[in-house]
Order: sequence, then C-alpha cells, then structure tokens
Amino acid sequence: MPMTQPERNNEVFQKIEELKRTRKAIILAHNYQPPEIQDIADFTGDSLELSRRAAETDASVIVFCGVAFMAETAAVLNPEKIVILPKPEAGCPMADMITPEDMERIATEYPGVPIVTYVNTTAAVKAKSTICCTSANAMKIVSSLDSERVYMAPDKNLALYTARYVNKEVLFWNGYCPIHHSLTAEDVLKAKSEHPKALFIAHPECNPEVLDMADGIFSTSGMLRFVSESPEEEFIIGTEVGILYPMKKMNPSKKFYSASPKKLFCPDMKKIALYDVIRALETLEPRTVVSEEIRVGALKAIKKMLAISDLP
Ligand code: 13P
Ligand code: SF4
Repeated sequence: MPMTQPERNNEVFQKIEELKRTRKAIILAHNYQPPEIQDIADFTGDSLELSRRAAETDASVIVFCGVAFMAETAAVLNPEKIVILPKPEAGCPMADMITPEDMERIATEYPGVPIVTYVNTTAAVKAKSTICCTSANAMKIVSSLDSERVYMAPDKNLALYTARYVNKEVLFWNGYCPIHHSLTAEDVLKAKSEHPKALFIAHPECNPEVLDMADGIFSTSGMLRFVSESPEEEFIIGTEVGILYPMKKMNPSKKFYSASPKKLFCPDMKKIALYDVIRALETLEPRTVVSEEIRVGALKAIKKMLAISDLP
C-alpha cells in the first residue's frame, strides 16, 4: 500500500529522494523490511501487490527492497528496466528448497497435473510451472484450474491450508519457510496466556496446528487490512516481526504482539540498509538479470496468475 510519507527532512531521506528523481526510480519494499526502508519506499506490500506494482510501473529503475525471488519477478515482468536488489545475497531458504530439476521430476511423475508454484521460488522454477500463486490468492488460483488434482510447490503448509478450501486433491512438495514453520502451538498458547484479550492471526506459511488456533489467516497485506478494519484492540501476530511496524504506524491506538519475536525474524529480510539503497541508486548496481529463456517461461506463469487474481 502507498505509505504515508515520513518527515523527509533528514539528509539521507533527501538524498534518496533526489537520486530517485534523477534516476527515474521507484522503490518497492516488502512488508517485512526494516522500518526505515519501508519509510523511504514508494510502495510497500505483500508479494502479490509488489508483483502488480512491478508490472504497472513506468519508472526506468526498480529498486527492490525484499529478497531475490521478488526482484527476479520484477525483472521477469520488466525486461527493459533496470531492476536492483541492493543486497543480492538476500535470499529465501524456502525458495532454495526446490530446483528446476525437481520440477521436471514432478512433471514426469504426475503427467497432466498442473503445477502451481508459490512466488517464493526462483524464476527458473517458475518457468517449469503451470501457474504461480501467492499467499493472497492461492485458493483462487487452485480453484480456477480445470483439473481434479493439482501439485503445489514448494510450501507444504500453504498447500495443506489451500487443500482445506478447494474441491480438489492437492499434492505437494515438502518445502517450508523455516521462520514460519518454527512457530509452535506452545508458542501461540504462551502468547495467548500473556495477552488473553488479543485475537491471533497467522500467515498460511505456518504449520497446520498453528493455523488451527488462528482467528484469521492472511497474507501480510491481508493482515494489515484485517487489523485496521477490526473493532478489536489487541492482536497476536503469527508472521515475521517486520509487519508490526506498519501495523503500529497505521493503528497507533491498537496493540500488537509478535507470537514469538525470536523465532519470527527473517534475517534475509533485514539485510538491506539505507546506505545500500543510496549506493544502488548511485551505481545502478547490483542488477537482477534473468536469462531470456527462463524469463519467457516464468513470465507465462506469473501473467496467468495476475490475470486470474484480477478477476472479480
Ligand atoms: P506475503 O507478503 O505475500 O504474504 O509473503 C510472505 C513471505 O514470506 C514473503 O517472503
Ligand atoms: Fe523466505 Fe520465510 Fe524469509 Fe519469507 S519469511 S523470505 S518465506 S524465509
């Protein structure tokens, strides 16, 4: 969502603004990014919203503050633009749990079964899939497929969650997000006993026992909308701790508690600092480039997702 702009009177913020203007650049940031990165972003959001923004922008340069698969998606959608991930080592352990070769084996083992890849995958993996999905649209995407069986990869928790709501057999790869998957029912019980009035909301990357305890299950931006619209005052948050910053900023009178601040910390999402953004805008490096062969395959899967996602 478009961020309300912070007071941009300090030198660093002014420098970034100036560089953005001269470079015709846009800064996109995921909801888990550090507060100061969210504050300088033109747009913050979940994976689906960021993909949409990347598809729509007329900027010449996209500085992507997130992790590698997100910058790759932006590069797939914008071959003519410069896409920069200020810290290229910011990856996603879940995305690394499946390879293009694994995808080929799945396709051979389950001929004719559509393979739905979570956006948290490399472009090379996306290129081997039928269609992509995000945490915000998984059910809609899977339901739209004209097949009684689908295969979801790599997140088994997202697959098990989706399987609860679709009238199809959902086969799945055994991957997971180490951050969300580490949250246990005991952690949630502890947080609930400490904050008995709070609602508990969780991300579909959490394991099924944790999801069973949730009052609501949403993508990161879905969570932001839910807490803003809810008449309730207190919330326990079952996703990466970075989301607490926009939650508090948008709802200063409400209280937010992480379900486990130690476990729900993604080091990859915290790698980019303001200094890296300045350097990226100055040097226009390091660029995220996807080979044309992979790009064309990944683009098909991403575009199919965006077309279905945008249907009413
Ligand atoms: P969303 O923001 O799309 O819900 O994804 C969460 C996530 O783990 C991204 O890495
Ligand atoms: Fe990957 Fe999990 Fe970190 Fe998201 S929170 S980037 S899924 S490791």
